[in-house]
Formats: sequence, structure tokens, C-alpha cells
Amino acid sequence: MEHSNKILFSIKGLSKSFGPKDVLKDVSFDIFEGEILCVIGQSGIGKSVLIKHLNGLLDPDKGKVLFEGKNISDLKHKDIYSLRKRVAMLFQSGALFDSMNVEENLILPLTEHTKLSKSKIKELVAEHLTLVGMAGIEKLHTSELSGGMKKRVALARAIIQGPEVLLYDEPTTGLDPVISDVINDLILNMNSKYNLTSVVITHDMRSVRKIADRVIMIHEGRIIFDGNIKEIEASSDPVIRKFIS
Ligand SMILES: Nc1ncnc2c1ncn2[C@@H]1O[C@H](COP(=O)(O)OP(=O)(O)O)[C@@H](O)[C@H]1O
Ligand SMILES: [Mg+2]
Repeated sequence: MEHSNKILFSIKGLSKSFGPKDVLKDVSFDIFEGEILCVIGQSGIGKSVLIKHLNGLLDPDKGKVLFEGKNISDLKHKDIYSLRKRVAMLFQSGALFDSMNVEENLILPLTEHTKLSKSKIKELVAEHLTLVGMAGIEKLHTSELSGGMKKRVALARAIIQGPEVLLYDEPTTGLDPVISDVINDLILNMNSKYNLTSVVITHDMRSVRKIADRVIMIHEGRIIFDGNIKEIEASSDPVIRKFIS
């Protein structure tokens, strides 16, 4: 899949520590409009920390993250809310509300941000559940859903507010290969259908091979690879080889 040459995010010299632990050290890269960028690396290496900087959930200690040329750290409170509407995040857990049914979970971002009529909202919910292959499950309780169903409902909820960027944190972790493929197909379909830009954190190389336009690998706080699938498969770096094989 081709992306434009328009830079959407520019990450410049990003460093982030928690206490004595330097998680990210002077990380720089760009994210292009329309691409599916996979961020890989061992567990605990700082992948989630990295993408939380893309919608202002975390602020850099050093360096900056520009979205359309604007430093996210400089945004005012209300601008951060509009940013999160445009840059939606799909958390690792799915982060659905256990006390609500599927419909109530999907309605939440709509009633928070818009003034749509009740019937229009129901229509949108049905349309988005169909989109992720989960038509008709509006009244199911979150606790009745399997892991794969939860991920799909969470994806519908992220898409429903019409974002331009989707950040996926480990979308296939804990799912069997068949369901993982369903999710991977959805990521591909969403990206092309809505002209999204997608950033996908994963340590699942099967998914990377299937969906990535471009791959970034993080190791010991730094980017040790930035390129496409063919290039990473051809790498002779022992750390990369160990990870991808
Ligand atoms: N809010 C936080 N406070 C303290 N330490 C954190 C916080 N968030 C992440 N970390 C630490 O940063 C490191 C990287 O975490 P994370 O980005 O979640 O890794 P992963 O690559 O598995 O997503 C871990 O050592 C984690 O414990
Ligand atoms: Mg993580």
C-alpha cells in the first residue's frame, strides 16, 4: 500500500524516563499520511510509552512530537480533546466498560462529542458493528464477549467518531491465529476505506508481514531499524534476526 509524502507526525529527539529508568532515548522519526506503520520490539521496551506521545497521553521529557507541524505539548486542554478525536487509540485491553452493554460502549464517544439524534446514533452503532463483522450484538453485555469480539467492538468504538489516525496497541496479542487474521484484515480495510493513518504496536511478526507498509524496531530506548518488510527480513543485525525469526 502506498502512502503520501505528507508528514503527519514528526517525532524529534524524544526522550522519556520514569524515575531512574530511561525508556526512550533521543528517538526521531516521521509518520506519513496513509501508511500502516508497525512498531516492534521486545516486551517492556517502550512501545506503548512511544505511542502515548502521539495523542498527548504522555509528554516528552526532552524533544518534541509535532502533529501537522504543531507541538502537541503546546496544545491547550480543549485542543488536546480535538486531537484525541482525530487520533484515536485502541488500547491493549480494549478498555471497554464492563458495566455497560455493547451499544452503550459505542454510544459513549458520540454523546460526549456530538449532538446527534437518538435514531441517528442507533443507526451509526448498527453500521459500525456491521463494519467489524459484529452486527446485531448491541444488547450483549461486555462480559459475554470473547477476546476477539472485544477487540472488534473496541475498534468499532474507535472508528465511530471518525478519526484520521488510529493507534493500535497490540491488537492481536492473546488472540488465536484465525482471529488475529480477522483483526489484521480489519486494520487493512479500515486503513484503505477511511484513508486512515495507522500505527500498530505489535510483537507478532505474522501480523507485521501481513499489514505493514513500514516497520520501526525499538531496542534499548533507540530505533534500531526503520524500513519495509523486505529490508527487515534481509537484515543481518543479530538483535533484529533474533526478534523476527
Ligand atoms: N506510567 C509509568 N510509570 C512508570 N513506569 C512506566 C510507566 N509507563 C511505562 N513504564 C515503564 O516503561 C517501560 C516501557 O513500558 P511500555 O512502553 O509499556 O513497554 P512495551 O514495549 O511492552 O509497550 C517499562 O519498563 C514500564 O514499566
Ligand atoms: Mg505495551
